[in-house]
Amino acid sequence: MSLLEKYDIPAPRYTSYPTVPYWETDQMEERDWMREVVRVFEKDRRLSLYIHLPFCEKLCTYCGCNKHITRNHAVESPYIQSVLAEWTMYLEHFPEKPVLTELHLGGGTPTFFHPENLKHLVQGILATVEIAEDHEFSFEAHPASTTREHLETLYDLGFRRISIGVQDVDEHILRVINRFQTIEEVSFVTETARALGYHSVNMDLIFGLPFQKQEHIIHTMSYINRWMPDRIAFYSYAHVPWLKNGQRAFDENDLPDTVSKRALYETGKRMLEELGYHDVGMDHFSLSTDALYQSAETGQLHRNFMGYTPLFTPLSIGLGASAIGDTFTAFAQNIKTVSEYEAAMAAGRLPLQRGHLLTQEDQWNRQHILNLMCRYRTAWLAEDPRDLILARLTEPVADGLVVVGPEGVQVTEQGKGFLRNICLAFDARYWSKVPSGKVFSQAV
Ligand SMILES: C[S@@+](CC[C@H](N)C(=O)[O-])C[C@H]1O[C@@H](n2cnc3c(N)ncnc32)[C@H](O)[C@@H]1O
Ligand code: SF4
Repeated sequence: MSLLEKYDIPAPRYTSYPTVPYWETDQMEERDWMREVVRVFEKDRRLSLYIHLPFCEKLCTYCGCNKHITRNHAVESPYIQSVLAEWTMYLEHFPEKPVLTELHLGGGTPTFFHPENLKHLVQGILATVEIAEDHEFSFEAHPASTTREHLETLYDLGFRRISIGVQDVDEHILRVINRFQTIEEVSFVTETARALGYHSVNMDLIFGLPFQKQEHIIHTMSYINRWMPDRIAFYSYAHVPWLKNGQRAFDENDLPDTVSKRALYETGKRMLEELGYHDVGMDHFSLSTDALYQSAETGQLHRNFMGYTPLFTPLSIGLGASAIGDTFTAFAQNIKTVSEYEAAMAAGRLPLQRGHLLTQEDQWNRQHILNLMCRYRTAWLAEDPRDLILARLTEPVADGLVVVGPEGVQVTEQGKGFLRNICLAFDARYWSKVPSGKVFSQAV
C-alpha cells in the first residue's frame, strides 16, 4: 500500500485542540466561560475579535462553512444589532477598556452586507475599544459581491488585509459547485484593494473539487501568476456530506481519488514555489514580504479557527451565530442558527451553545499540536506519556515522516504532507474514544 493510501484516514484539521467533537460541553457553563475571559483580560486587556456574518445569496454546494442562504437584505440590521448587543455583554464584564489587536469579519459572506451597515457595526465596536498599535483588521470578500464602496469603507475604518474566495477559475467547475464569479471580478477586487492601500491580499484556493484535474490547477496558477496575492490558502476539499447536505449534490465518482487529489496539491505547490511562494504550515503559502512568512521564520506563527495567523493574542472573542471564542484555557461556540442566536440576544442571554474547559493535559497536548502545525517540531515535556506517544508514532517513524529523539519530535520534509496524521499521536482525547462513525474529513 502506498503512503497516501495508508494515511488517507479521517483525521482532524486541528484548528483547535481538543477538536470540537471531543469538547466536554456539560463541564462548562456560561459563568465559567465569562470567568476565563475576564481572568485572561485582566492580564493585559488585549483581545482579538472574530465576527461571523453568516448570510450568502446563493449556496456553493461544496461549502463547509456555517452560513444562512437568503436574498432578503432586511436581515442585515437586526443581525448587526444582535452582534453589538452581544459585544455589550462582554464589555459589561470588563473592568477597563479593551485593547483591540485583531478584528476579522468572516462568514458566510461579509460583503453580503451593505457597506453602510458594515460601517455601523465596525464603528459600534471601535467606539468602545483602544486600538492596538500593531493591530490587523481583515475581512473575507466574495469576488461577486465586493464593490469599490465596500473596499473604501472598510479601508477608512482601518482594514488593511483582505481574503478573496477564488477556489478555482474554471467555468465548468464553478458551475458544478454552484459558485458564480468571474475572473474580471477577482481582478477588480484585487487591483482596487491594492490601489486603495490594502497591504495584504489573500486568496483561497481548493484542490480536490469535483471534475478538477491537473490542467485546472495549472490554469488557476496561471492567474495566480497574474494576481500575485501576498498569501494563499490552498485548502484540501473537505468532503463531509453527513454534516453539509449541499455536498450531496455531487456524484462522489466525480471527485478525484486519493492519489489524483494529492497530485493536484503537488502540482499546485510546485507552481507556487516557482512563483516565489513559501510553504507556511499546512495548506498555506506566503510571499517572503508578507507577515505570515516572517512570523513562520521567527517562530511566531499561530493557528486558530480561521487557519494560520502571524499574531497571537491569548484572548479571542467570537461574536455572531456559530462564532468561537478562545482563552487558551477554554473554548466557547455560539448557537449556530441565526434565528436562535437572535432569540437568545433578544432574551438577554449570552448565546453560547457549547464549550470546553481545557484540563492541564489538554493544554500540554494543545501546545504540542500547535508546535507541530506551526513549527514542524515539538519538545518533550516531563509530563508526557512518552511510551504511549512513541507507540502511536511507530509507523510514521518507520515511514520516514518523523524523527524522534531525546529532545522531541521533528517532522521530516516527507512528513509535512501528513501533518494531520502526525498530530494524532498527541491527541489523547481521540485515543480515549476513537470515533466509530464519520466525524472528520479525510487527511489527504
Ligand atoms: C467563508 S468562505 C470565504 C468567503 C466567501 N463566503 C466566499 O465564498 O468567497 C471561507 C473559505 O473556506 C473554504 N472552504 C469552504 N468550504 C470548504 C470545503 N468543503 N473544503 C475546503 N475548503 C472549504 C473556501 O476556500 C472559502 O473561501
Ligand atoms: S463558499 Fe462562501 S459564498 Fe459560498 S456558500 Fe460558503 S460561505 Fe457562502
